[in-house]
Amino acid sequence: MLLTQPRTLASKTLLELLTDPADDRDALYSGLSAAAPVYRDPSGAWMVSTYRLSRAILNHPALSSRSPLVATGVLDDEAGILEMMLFQDDADHHRLRHAFAPLFSKTRLSSLRDGLRADLDALLASLPDPHRFDLMAYIAQRLPSMTICRLIGLDVAHAPELVAGSMSAIRLISAAPLRPDERREAIRRTVAFMRDLESHMPAVRELLRTAPATPAERPPQDRELTPHQLLVNVLLMFIAGYGTTMLSIGNTLRHALACPGLWQRLAGEPTLVPAAIRELMRLEPAVHLLFRYARHAVEFDGLTLAPGDAVAIVAAAANRDPAEFDMPSQVRPERAHNGLVFGAGMHGCIGVPLARMQLEVVFDTLLARMPRLTLESARNPRLQEGSFRGYRTLWLRDQAARAGK
Ligand code: HEM
Repeated sequence: MLLTQPRTLASKTLLELLTDPADDRDALYSGLSAAAPVYRDPSGAWMVSTYRLSRAILNHPALSSRSPLVATGVLDDEAGILEMMLFQDDADHHRLRHAFAPLFSKTRLSSLRDGLRADLDALLASLPDPHRFDLMAYIAQRLPSMTICRLIGLDVAHAPELVAGSMSAIRLISAAPLRPDERREAIRRTVAFMRDLESHMPAVRELLRTAPATPAERPPQDRELTPHQLLVNVLLMFIAGYGTTMLSIGNTLRHALACPGLWQRLAGEPTLVPAAIRELMRLEPAVHLLFRYARHAVEFDGLTLAPGDAVAIVAAAANRDPAEFDMPSQVRPERAHNGLVFGAGMHGCIGVPLARMQLEVVFDTLLARMPRLTLESARNPRLQEGSFRGYRTLWLRDQAARAGK
Protein backbone atom coordinates (compact mmCIF):
# COMPACT_ATOMS: atom_id res chain seq x y z
CA MET A 1 0.00 0.00 0.00
CA LEU A 2 1.41 3.36 -1.01
CA LEU A 3 0.53 6.33 1.16
CA THR A 4 2.67 9.04 -0.39
CA GLN A 5 1.03 12.29 -1.32
CA PRO A 6 1.12 13.12 -5.05
CA ARG A 7 3.06 16.36 -5.61
CA THR A 8 0.07 18.08 -7.22
CA LEU A 9 -1.63 18.12 -3.82
CA ALA A 10 0.71 20.64 -2.20
CA SER A 11 -2.02 23.10 -1.29
CA LYS A 12 -5.19 21.02 -1.27
CA THR A 13 -6.49 17.78 0.14
CA LEU A 14 -7.24 15.25 -2.53
CA LEU A 15 -10.93 15.51 -1.74
CA GLU A 16 -10.80 19.30 -2.19
CA LEU A 17 -8.91 18.90 -5.42
CA LEU A 18 -11.35 16.38 -6.80
CA THR A 19 -14.37 18.49 -5.96
CA ASP A 20 -13.02 21.86 -7.05
CA PRO A 21 -15.01 23.01 -10.09
CA ALA A 22 -12.18 25.26 -11.27
CA ASP A 23 -9.57 22.54 -11.48
CA ASP A 24 -9.23 20.20 -14.45
CA ARG A 25 -7.31 17.09 -13.51
CA ASP A 26 -6.93 14.87 -16.52
CA ALA A 27 -3.23 14.32 -15.85
CA LEU A 28 -3.88 13.44 -12.22
CA TYR A 29 -6.44 10.79 -13.14
CA SER A 30 -4.07 9.22 -15.64
CA GLY A 31 -1.31 8.82 -13.05
CA LEU A 32 -3.17 8.39 -9.77
CA SER A 33 -3.58 4.60 -9.67
CA ALA A 34 0.21 4.21 -10.00
CA ALA A 35 1.25 7.19 -7.83
CA ALA A 36 -1.21 6.75 -4.95
CA PRO A 37 -3.33 3.62 -5.35
CA VAL A 38 -4.64 3.91 -1.79
CA TYR A 39 -4.30 7.19 0.01
CA ARG A 40 -5.67 8.47 3.32
CA ASP A 41 -6.64 12.01 2.72
CA PRO A 42 -6.27 14.54 5.57
CA SER A 43 -10.09 14.71 5.57
CA GLY A 44 -9.96 11.11 6.81
CA ALA A 45 -11.42 9.57 3.65
CA TRP A 46 -9.60 6.72 1.96
CA MET A 47 -9.04 7.53 -1.69
CA VAL A 48 -8.87 4.39 -3.84
CA SER A 49 -7.89 4.57 -7.48
CA THR A 50 -6.95 1.08 -8.63
CA TYR A 51 -9.59 -0.78 -10.61
CA ARG A 52 -9.34 -4.11 -8.78
CA LEU A 53 -9.60 -2.73 -5.26
CA SER A 54 -12.34 -0.29 -6.24
CA ARG A 55 -14.40 -3.10 -7.67
CA ALA A 56 -13.83 -5.33 -4.64
CA ILE A 57 -15.04 -2.49 -2.37
CA LEU A 58 -18.15 -1.83 -4.46
CA ASN A 59 -18.98 -5.54 -4.38
CA HIS A 60 -18.48 -5.99 -0.63
CA PRO A 61 -21.60 -6.13 1.58
CA ALA A 62 -19.73 -4.52 4.51
CA LEU A 63 -19.68 -1.22 2.60
CA SER A 64 -22.77 0.97 2.44
CA SER A 65 -23.54 4.07 0.40
CA ARG A 66 -25.39 5.56 3.38
CA SER A 67 -23.29 8.05 5.32
CA PRO A 68 -23.04 7.31 9.06
CA LEU A 69 -23.30 11.07 9.58
CA VAL A 70 -27.06 10.73 9.21
CA ALA A 71 -27.46 7.92 11.77
CA THR A 72 -25.39 9.94 14.24
CA GLY A 73 -27.50 13.05 13.68
CA VAL A 74 -24.69 15.18 12.18
CA LEU A 75 -26.63 15.45 8.91
CA ASP A 76 -30.40 15.50 8.83
CA ASP A 77 -32.60 13.86 6.24
CA GLU A 78 -35.78 15.90 6.36
CA ALA A 79 -36.47 15.20 2.70
CA GLY A 80 -36.33 11.44 3.40
CA ILE A 81 -33.94 10.81 0.52
CA LEU A 82 -32.31 7.94 2.38
CA GLU A 83 -35.31 5.89 1.29
CA MET A 84 -33.88 6.00 -2.23
CA MET A 85 -32.62 2.58 -3.29
CA LEU A 86 -29.19 4.15 -3.74
CA PHE A 87 -28.91 4.55 0.04
CA GLN A 88 -30.52 1.26 1.10
CA ASP A 89 -28.73 -1.98 1.92
CA ASP A 90 -29.43 -5.70 1.75
CA ALA A 91 -33.06 -6.87 1.47
CA ASP A 92 -34.53 -3.33 1.62
CA HIS A 93 -32.42 -2.33 -1.35
CA HIS A 94 -33.26 -5.51 -3.23
CA ARG A 95 -36.99 -4.97 -2.78
CA LEU A 96 -36.92 -1.36 -4.02
CA ARG A 97 -34.73 -2.18 -6.98
CA HIS A 98 -36.98 -5.01 -8.07
CA ALA A 99 -40.08 -2.87 -7.74
CA PHE A 100 -38.65 -0.55 -10.41
CA ALA A 101 -37.24 -3.27 -12.67
CA PRO A 102 -40.36 -3.44 -14.95
CA LEU A 103 -39.66 0.13 -16.10
CA PHE A 104 -36.39 -1.14 -17.59
CA SER A 105 -37.66 -4.36 -19.19
CA LYS A 106 -36.31 -5.05 -22.66
CA THR A 107 -39.71 -4.67 -24.32
CA ARG A 108 -40.40 -1.41 -22.54
CA LEU A 109 -37.02 0.12 -23.37
CA SER A 110 -37.17 -0.81 -27.03
CA SER A 111 -40.63 0.80 -27.16
CA LEU A 112 -39.02 4.09 -26.06
CA ARG A 113 -36.46 4.22 -28.86
CA ASP A 114 -38.70 5.76 -31.54
CA GLY A 115 -39.90 8.50 -29.19
CA LEU A 116 -36.32 9.24 -28.26
CA ARG A 117 -35.31 9.59 -31.91
CA ALA A 118 -38.27 11.88 -32.53
CA ASP A 119 -37.29 14.02 -29.52
CA LEU A 120 -33.74 14.35 -30.84
CA ASP A 121 -35.00 15.23 -34.33
CA ALA A 122 -37.18 17.95 -32.83
CA LEU A 123 -34.28 19.33 -30.80
CA LEU A 124 -32.01 19.40 -33.86
CA ALA A 125 -34.74 21.06 -35.92
CA SER A 126 -35.01 23.81 -33.31
CA LEU A 127 -31.29 24.71 -33.31
CA PRO A 128 -31.05 28.49 -33.87
CA ASP A 129 -27.94 27.89 -36.02
CA PRO A 130 -27.44 24.29 -37.25
CA HIS A 131 -23.90 25.15 -38.43
CA ARG A 132 -22.67 26.13 -34.98
CA PHE A 133 -24.31 25.15 -31.70
CA ASP A 134 -23.71 24.40 -28.03
CA LEU A 135 -24.39 20.69 -27.70
CA MET A 136 -24.89 20.99 -23.93
CA ALA A 137 -27.54 23.72 -24.06
CA TYR A 138 -29.55 22.44 -27.00
CA ILE A 139 -29.24 18.64 -26.86
CA ALA A 140 -27.49 17.23 -23.79
CA GLN A 141 -29.44 19.28 -21.24
CA ARG A 142 -32.76 18.48 -22.90
CA LEU A 143 -32.88 14.99 -24.37
CA PRO A 144 -32.26 13.01 -21.12
CA SER A 145 -35.04 14.80 -19.23
CA MET A 146 -37.47 14.09 -22.08
CA THR A 147 -36.37 10.45 -22.03
CA ILE A 148 -37.02 10.13 -18.31
CA CYS A 149 -40.46 11.65 -18.75
CA ARG A 150 -41.12 8.90 -21.28
CA LEU A 151 -39.65 6.29 -18.93
CA ILE A 152 -41.97 7.19 -16.07
CA GLY A 153 -44.96 7.84 -18.31
CA LEU A 154 -45.08 11.66 -18.14
CA ASP A 155 -45.72 14.01 -21.04
CA VAL A 156 -42.35 15.31 -22.33
CA ALA A 157 -43.76 18.84 -21.97
CA HIS A 158 -43.03 18.44 -18.22
CA ALA A 159 -39.29 17.97 -18.85
CA PRO A 160 -38.11 21.58 -18.25
CA GLU A 161 -40.00 21.93 -14.96
CA LEU A 162 -38.66 18.55 -13.79
CA VAL A 163 -35.10 19.63 -14.56
CA ALA A 164 -35.55 22.90 -12.69
CA GLY A 165 -37.26 21.26 -9.73
CA SER A 166 -34.75 18.45 -9.28
CA MET A 167 -31.57 20.57 -9.21
CA SER A 168 -31.52 20.81 -5.42
CA ALA A 169 -31.97 17.07 -5.03
CA ILE A 170 -29.05 16.53 -7.43
CA ARG A 171 -26.90 18.73 -5.18
CA LEU A 172 -27.97 16.74 -2.12
CA ILE A 173 -26.86 13.41 -3.58
CA SER A 174 -23.84 14.68 -5.53
CA ALA A 175 -21.53 14.88 -2.49
CA ALA A 176 -20.83 18.50 -3.39
CA PRO A 177 -19.73 20.30 -0.23
CA LEU A 178 -22.71 22.37 0.99
CA ARG A 179 -22.75 24.97 3.77
CA PRO A 180 -25.47 24.31 6.39
CA ASP A 181 -27.68 27.08 4.98
CA GLU A 182 -27.22 25.76 1.42
CA ARG A 183 -28.11 22.27 2.59
CA ARG A 184 -31.23 23.51 4.39
CA GLU A 185 -32.32 25.37 1.25
CA ALA A 186 -31.65 22.33 -0.95
CA ILE A 187 -33.77 20.20 1.39
CA ARG A 188 -36.57 22.79 1.38
CA ARG A 189 -36.64 22.91 -2.41
CA THR A 190 -36.47 19.13 -2.72
CA VAL A 191 -39.46 18.72 -0.40
CA ALA A 192 -41.40 21.31 -2.42
CA PHE A 193 -40.52 19.54 -5.67
CA MET A 194 -41.65 16.19 -4.29
CA ARG A 195 -45.00 17.78 -3.43
CA ASP A 196 -45.31 18.84 -7.10
CA LEU A 197 -44.47 15.32 -8.25
CA GLU A 198 -47.11 13.71 -6.04
CA SER A 199 -49.96 14.19 -8.53
CA HIS A 200 -48.12 11.96 -11.05
CA MET A 201 -47.66 9.05 -8.66
CA PRO A 202 -50.90 7.10 -9.27
CA ALA A 203 -49.97 6.86 -12.98
CA VAL A 204 -46.42 5.75 -12.16
CA ARG A 205 -47.71 3.09 -9.73
CA GLU A 206 -50.00 1.79 -12.45
CA LEU A 207 -47.13 1.76 -14.95
CA LEU A 208 -44.98 -0.29 -12.58
CA ARG A 209 -47.85 -2.78 -12.29
CA THR A 210 -48.62 -3.05 -16.00
CA ALA A 211 -45.37 -2.34 -17.91
CA PRO A 212 -44.60 -5.25 -20.25
CA ALA A 213 -42.03 -7.43 -18.49
CA THR A 214 -41.10 -11.09 -18.30
CA PRO A 215 -41.60 -12.89 -14.93
CA ALA A 216 -37.85 -12.56 -14.33
CA GLU A 217 -38.10 -8.81 -14.88
CA ARG A 218 -41.09 -8.57 -12.53
CA PRO A 219 -40.42 -10.70 -9.46
CA PRO A 220 -43.29 -10.92 -6.96
CA GLN A 221 -43.29 -8.18 -4.34
CA ASP A 222 -44.16 -9.09 -0.77
CA ARG A 223 -45.75 -5.69 -0.14
CA GLU A 224 -46.56 -2.46 -1.99
CA LEU A 225 -44.18 0.49 -1.92
CA THR A 226 -45.28 3.17 0.53
CA PRO A 227 -46.24 6.52 -1.07
CA HIS A 228 -42.95 8.04 0.09
CA GLN A 229 -40.85 5.12 -1.21
CA LEU A 230 -42.50 5.47 -4.59
CA LEU A 231 -42.11 9.25 -4.71
CA VAL A 232 -38.53 9.43 -3.57
CA ASN A 233 -37.42 6.66 -5.92
CA VAL A 234 -39.17 8.29 -8.88
CA LEU A 235 -37.18 11.38 -7.91
CA LEU A 236 -34.06 9.21 -7.88
CA MET A 237 -34.80 7.96 -11.43
CA PHE A 238 -34.87 11.55 -12.50
CA ILE A 239 -31.80 12.81 -10.71
CA ALA A 240 -29.69 9.68 -11.30
CA GLY A 241 -30.69 9.47 -14.93
CA TYR A 242 -30.71 13.11 -15.97
CA GLY A 243 -27.39 14.69 -14.98
CA THR A 244 -25.35 11.56 -15.66
CA THR A 245 -26.68 11.15 -19.19
CA MET A 246 -26.46 14.88 -19.89
CA LEU A 247 -22.80 14.94 -18.88
CA SER A 248 -22.03 11.68 -20.67
CA ILE A 249 -23.37 13.00 -23.97
CA GLY A 250 -20.98 15.97 -23.71
CA ASN A 251 -18.01 13.95 -22.42
CA THR A 252 -18.21 11.29 -25.13
CA LEU A 253 -18.80 13.72 -28.00
CA ARG A 254 -15.97 15.97 -26.80
CA HIS A 255 -13.53 13.07 -26.55
CA ALA A 256 -14.60 11.54 -29.87
CA LEU A 257 -14.09 14.83 -31.68
CA ALA A 258 -10.76 15.48 -29.95
CA CYS A 259 -9.34 12.08 -31.05
CA PRO A 260 -7.78 12.57 -34.51
CA GLY A 261 -9.75 10.69 -37.16
CA LEU A 262 -12.16 8.96 -34.76
CA TRP A 263 -15.35 10.78 -35.84
CA GLN A 264 -14.60 10.10 -39.52
CA ARG A 265 -13.86 6.45 -38.73
CA LEU A 266 -17.18 6.07 -36.93
CA ALA A 267 -19.02 7.81 -39.77
CA GLY A 268 -17.58 5.18 -42.12
CA GLU A 269 -18.14 2.24 -39.75
CA PRO A 270 -21.32 2.96 -37.74
CA THR A 271 -21.38 -0.57 -36.32
CA LEU A 272 -18.42 0.46 -34.17
CA VAL A 273 -20.47 3.11 -32.38
CA PRO A 274 -21.68 1.13 -29.29
CA ALA A 275 -18.18 -0.18 -28.53
CA ALA A 276 -16.59 3.22 -29.14
CA ILE A 277 -19.08 4.87 -26.78
CA ARG A 278 -18.17 2.34 -24.09
CA GLU A 279 -14.53 3.35 -24.41
CA LEU A 280 -15.25 7.07 -24.52
CA MET A 281 -17.29 6.75 -21.32
CA ARG A 282 -14.48 4.81 -19.66
CA LEU A 283 -12.10 7.66 -20.35
CA GLU A 284 -14.55 10.40 -19.39
CA PRO A 285 -16.93 9.01 -16.76
CA ALA A 286 -19.68 11.43 -15.72
CA VAL A 287 -19.51 10.02 -12.18
CA HIS A 288 -15.84 10.36 -11.29
CA LEU A 289 -16.17 9.64 -7.56
CA LEU A 290 -18.21 7.03 -5.71
CA PHE A 291 -18.55 7.13 -1.91
CA ARG A 292 -18.88 4.20 0.47
CA TYR A 293 -18.83 3.82 4.27
CA ALA A 294 -17.68 0.75 6.26
CA ARG A 295 -20.57 -0.73 8.24
CA HIS A 296 -18.08 -2.84 10.20
CA ALA A 297 -14.38 -3.63 10.18
CA VAL A 298 -13.27 -5.19 6.92
CA GLU A 299 -9.97 -6.06 5.31
CA PHE A 300 -9.04 -6.01 1.65
CA ASP A 301 -5.74 -6.79 0.03
CA GLY A 302 -4.07 -3.39 0.58
CA LEU A 303 -6.70 -1.67 2.73
CA THR A 304 -8.04 -2.20 6.25
CA LEU A 305 -11.20 -0.31 7.13
CA ALA A 306 -12.55 0.45 10.59
CA PRO A 307 -16.30 0.85 11.20
CA GLY A 308 -17.47 4.24 9.87
CA ASP A 309 -14.45 4.77 7.59
CA ALA A 310 -15.28 6.67 4.41
CA VAL A 311 -13.94 5.51 1.05
CA ALA A 312 -13.91 7.67 -2.06
CA ILE A 313 -13.46 5.53 -5.14
CA VAL A 314 -11.84 7.63 -7.82
CA ALA A 315 -13.62 5.96 -10.73
CA ALA A 316 -12.05 8.27 -13.30
CA ALA A 317 -8.58 7.12 -12.19
CA ALA A 318 -9.54 3.43 -11.82
CA ASN A 319 -10.84 3.55 -15.40
CA ARG A 320 -7.32 4.48 -16.54
CA ASP A 321 -5.49 2.02 -14.31
CA PRO A 322 -2.70 0.52 -16.48
CA ALA A 323 -2.82 -2.67 -14.40
CA GLU A 324 -6.32 -3.28 -15.79
CA PHE A 325 -6.28 -1.45 -19.13
CA ASP A 326 -3.44 -1.87 -21.58
CA MET A 327 -2.53 1.58 -23.01
CA PRO A 328 -5.40 3.10 -21.01
CA SER A 329 -5.49 6.49 -22.76
CA GLN A 330 -6.24 4.92 -26.14
CA VAL A 331 -9.78 4.49 -27.44
CA ARG A 332 -9.88 0.79 -28.31
CA PRO A 333 -13.42 -0.27 -29.20
CA GLU A 334 -12.42 -3.94 -29.07
CA ARG A 335 -11.68 -3.69 -25.33
CA ALA A 336 -15.31 -4.42 -24.27
CA HIS A 337 -14.70 -3.28 -20.68
CA ASN A 338 -16.98 -0.79 -18.89
CA GLY A 339 -14.55 0.13 -16.16
CA LEU A 340 -16.54 1.68 -13.34
CA VAL A 341 -18.62 4.00 -15.50
CA PHE A 342 -21.86 2.60 -14.11
CA GLY A 343 -20.49 1.59 -10.71
CA ALA A 344 -20.45 -2.08 -9.70
CA GLY A 345 -22.06 -4.40 -7.18
CA MET A 346 -25.61 -4.12 -5.90
CA HIS A 347 -25.89 -0.39 -6.62
CA GLY A 348 -24.58 -0.75 -10.17
CA CYS A 349 -26.65 1.49 -12.44
CA ILE A 350 -30.18 0.23 -13.16
CA GLY A 351 -30.41 2.52 -16.20
CA VAL A 352 -27.45 1.20 -18.24
CA PRO A 353 -29.45 0.08 -21.31
CA LEU A 354 -31.42 3.32 -21.37
CA ALA A 355 -28.26 5.40 -21.00
CA ARG A 356 -26.53 3.50 -23.80
CA MET A 357 -29.58 3.77 -26.02
CA GLN A 358 -29.60 7.57 -25.67
CA LEU A 359 -25.89 7.91 -26.41
CA GLU A 360 -26.19 5.61 -29.41
CA VAL A 361 -29.14 7.54 -30.82
CA VAL A 362 -27.22 10.82 -30.41
CA PHE A 363 -24.07 9.42 -32.07
CA ASP A 364 -25.93 7.62 -34.87
CA THR A 365 -27.98 10.70 -35.69
CA LEU A 366 -25.11 13.19 -35.57
CA LEU A 367 -22.75 10.88 -37.50
CA ALA A 368 -25.34 10.41 -40.25
CA ARG A 369 -26.21 14.10 -40.50
CA MET A 370 -22.93 15.75 -39.59
CA PRO A 371 -20.02 13.51 -40.62
CA ARG A 372 -17.76 16.58 -40.67
CA LEU A 373 -18.60 17.80 -37.20
CA THR A 374 -15.73 19.48 -35.35
CA LEU A 375 -15.07 21.07 -31.96
CA GLU A 376 -15.56 24.80 -32.19
CA SER A 377 -13.41 25.74 -29.24
CA ALA A 378 -10.76 23.86 -27.31
CA ARG A 379 -11.72 25.83 -24.22
CA ASN A 380 -15.13 24.57 -23.26
CA PRO A 381 -15.27 25.04 -19.48
CA ARG A 382 -15.40 21.99 -17.25
CA LEU A 383 -18.33 21.37 -14.95
CA GLN A 384 -17.37 19.62 -11.75
CA GLU A 385 -19.82 19.34 -8.90
CA GLY A 386 -19.29 16.70 -6.24
CA SER A 387 -19.27 13.29 -7.90
CA PHE A 388 -20.21 14.68 -11.30
CA ARG A 389 -17.80 15.75 -14.02
CA GLY A 390 -18.38 17.02 -17.52
CA TYR A 391 -18.57 20.22 -19.54
CA ARG A 392 -20.68 23.33 -19.10
CA THR A 393 -20.69 24.16 -22.80
CA LEU A 394 -19.59 22.24 -25.87
CA TRP A 395 -19.55 24.36 -28.99
CA LEU A 396 -19.58 22.35 -32.20
CA ARG A 397 -19.33 23.33 -35.84
CA ASP A 398 -20.82 21.36 -38.70
CA GLN A 399 -18.30 21.90 -41.50
CA ALA A 400 -20.41 20.16 -44.16
CA ALA A 401 -23.42 22.34 -43.40
CA ARG A 402 -21.21 25.43 -43.60
CA ALA A 403 -19.95 24.30 -47.01
CA GLY A 404 -23.60 24.06 -48.07
CA LYS A 405 -23.63 20.28 -48.51
C1 HEM B 1 -24.65 7.67 -18.93
C2 HEM B 1 -25.56 7.76 -18.00
C3 HEM B 1 -25.42 7.17 -16.62
C4 HEM B 1 -24.33 7.02 -15.85
C5 HEM B 1 -22.88 7.41 -16.18
C6 HEM B 1 -24.76 6.43 -14.60
C7 HEM B 1 -23.91 6.09 -13.57
C8 HEM B 1 -24.34 5.47 -12.40
C9 HEM B 1 -23.45 5.05 -11.36
C10 HEM B 1 -21.94 5.22 -11.33
C11 HEM B 1 -24.21 4.47 -10.40
C12 HEM B 1 -23.72 3.85 -9.10
C13 HEM B 1 -23.71 4.84 -7.96
C14 HEM B 1 -23.08 4.28 -6.71
O1 HEM B 1 -22.78 3.09 -6.64
O2 HEM B 1 -22.88 5.07 -5.77
C15 HEM B 1 -25.58 4.54 -10.82
C16 HEM B 1 -26.66 4.08 -10.10
C17 HEM B 1 -27.97 4.32 -10.48
N1 HEM B 1 -28.42 4.81 -11.68
FE1 HEM B 1 -27.27 5.41 -13.20
N2 HEM B 1 -26.11 6.26 -14.65
C18 HEM B 1 -26.56 6.69 -15.87
C19 HEM B 1 -27.86 6.68 -16.33
C20 HEM B 1 -28.96 6.31 -15.60
C21 HEM B 1 -30.32 6.34 -16.06
C22 HEM B 1 -30.75 6.73 -17.47
C23 HEM B 1 -31.11 5.97 -15.00
C24 HEM B 1 -32.60 5.83 -14.90
C25 HEM B 1 -33.45 6.48 -15.58
C26 HEM B 1 -30.22 5.69 -13.88
C27 HEM B 1 -30.64 5.31 -12.63
C28 HEM B 1 -29.79 4.87 -11.63
C29 HEM B 1 -30.26 4.40 -10.35
C30 HEM B 1 -31.71 4.30 -9.90
C31 HEM B 1 -29.11 4.04 -9.62
C32 HEM B 1 -29.08 3.44 -8.22
C33 HEM B 1 -29.17 1.92 -8.35
C34 HEM B 1 -29.16 1.21 -7.01
O3 HEM B 1 -28.88 1.82 -5.98
O4 HEM B 1 -29.45 0.01 -7.02
N3 HEM B 1 -28.93 5.90 -14.28
N4 HEM B 1 -25.63 5.15 -12.06
